[in-house]
Amino acid sequence: MDKIVVLDFGSQYSHLICRRIRDFSVYAELVPFSISFEELKNLNPKGIIFSGGPSSVYNPDAPIPDEKIFDLGLPLLGICYGHQLIVNKYGGKVKRANKEYGSSLLTIENDKDLLNGIGESVRAWMSHGDEAEEIPPGFKIIGHTESARAAAIASDEKPIFGIQFHPEVVHTEQGNEILKNFVLKVCKAKQDWTMAEFIKNEVEKISKIEGNVLCGVSGGIDSTVAALLIHKAIGNRLKCVFVNNGLLRQDEENEIEDIFKNNFKLNFSGVDASNNFLSKLKGVEDPEQKRKIVGEQFISVFTDFAEQNGPFKWLAQGTLYPDVIESGVSKGPASVIKSHHNVGGLPEWLDLEILEPLKELYKDEVREIAKILGVPEKLFMRHPFPGPGLAVRIIGEITPEKLKICKLASKIVEDELIEAKIYENVWQAYAAVGDDKAVGVVGDERKYGNIVMIRVVDSIDAMTADWTRLPHGLLEKMSNRITNEIENVTWVTYSISSKPPATIEPQ
Ligand code: XMP
Repeated sequence: MDKIVVLDFGSQYSHLICRRIRDFSVYAELVPFSISFEELKNLNPKGIIFSGGPSSVYNPDAPIPDEKIFDLGLPLLGICYGHQLIVNKYGGKVKRANKEYGSSLLTIENDKDLLNGIGESVRAWMSHGDEAEEIPPGFKIIGHTESARAAAIASDEKPIFGIQFHPEVVHTEQGNEILKNFVLKVCKAKQDWTMAEFIKNEVEKISKIEGNVLCGVSGGIDSTVAALLIHKAIGNRLKCVFVNNGLLRQDEENEIEDIFKNNFKLNFSGVDASNNFLSKLKGVEDPEQKRKIVGEQFISVFTDFAEQNGPFKWLAQGTLYPDVIESGVSKGPASVIKSHHNVGGLPEWLDLEILEPLKELYKDEVREIAKILGVPEKLFMRHPFPGPGLAVRIIGEITPEKLKICKLASKIVEDELIEAKIYENVWQAYAAVGDDKAVGVVGDERKYGNIVMIRVVDSIDAMTADWTRLPHGLLEKMSNRITNEIENVTWVTYSISSKPPATIEPQ
């Protein structure tokens, strides 16, 4: 398989470069900028991209890649900080400039190679504090903006390019075309990254492992697909366990058991551990503490199950790439946003090796695999649901009353979206509840009840999200039903924060 390697210098957008390239069926992998020359060479890439990053090339502690990487003779594209690295390396000059954030007009001066076929000018997304003051000898300027003379440069002799803007973000017009030009025309990479191919390779890889595998399934698409892939490779050496942690959506535990037992030939067991989870969470308010407890409880249930049903050598999980990045255990220097319970932080006493066949994939890639593997529509179309479940949608302490409100209100939100035929078009939809209360008037009487927050978001990969502009009539219906049907709810609000700066879940 042809491959593009992206060296991560710490930009928030580094992973998006891979995302965009994979969208046109070329495999792209993010690696830390500090990767050794030998390791990089072993990956056998068709081309290399240097990502952006927060540093300045003239800082003494600036991240610098292994010098020998430049001698590989492979096509090279530097983006933002990566562009400045190239300028610096080949003898140009980088200077501190006025910070430039947002969209600028990029005028194309040379439409060969990298900027081929994208027109005379495009809006390009800038986010930088430094710029190239002098380009290196043997390079030419191929595009400029009003404030950056050398916004895009190319070597005269070698397939080396630098661009000050970010082609990977949607705000750069024709950004995909620029990446395509580099990957397909300059690197001549083949478009052979398909999910059918992924399944074939992964099944082959997994079939080589020894010992039995325990897979925790949540009923979500990720763990289901992970289980089906592993099952395809090792059959009944895989046992699946579904844990009811008491933090599931309304009636979810029964629905999942039904679906698994009726559709798949997997070894499946359900365990009701709701009392363990909820008693350990009693009195806990801090969100990260809640996540930690839920994670620990899962491991403890799995360990007990393993002791009774083992021996197992492996614990399989449906971890995806965005989970890995946001938990700060990715290979690059991105900062920790939330510690996803199913990534990292596994206790040392857990004597199982971890198998995560989907950890390089994005959600829509997993959906495609689910389709190929015949996952039923009902499960397939269900929105993603966080591993810690309602623990992250109940703000503050988890009490039986808040749990009940959260379940019932979320069910109303979901049912109304299904009824309005909007459910499948949105990324996630739920109701959250905290300790805030507000005065209402019910049957002429004052009532001091809970505030419920509805949150519905659009997203492609959960890395960014926008709040969904639902029709007012639909919001009204949800609000009426929530206050009428659920005891002790007096107010309903709608969350209008996007990610960033918010996150999808409130905790
Ligand atoms: P946030 O709230 O960080 O969520 O914007 C991004 C996506 O991840 C889901 N999520 C989780 N999934 N374990 C998971 O498996 C977790 O701990 C977790 N926390 C959030 C969230 O529902 C959204 O789709």
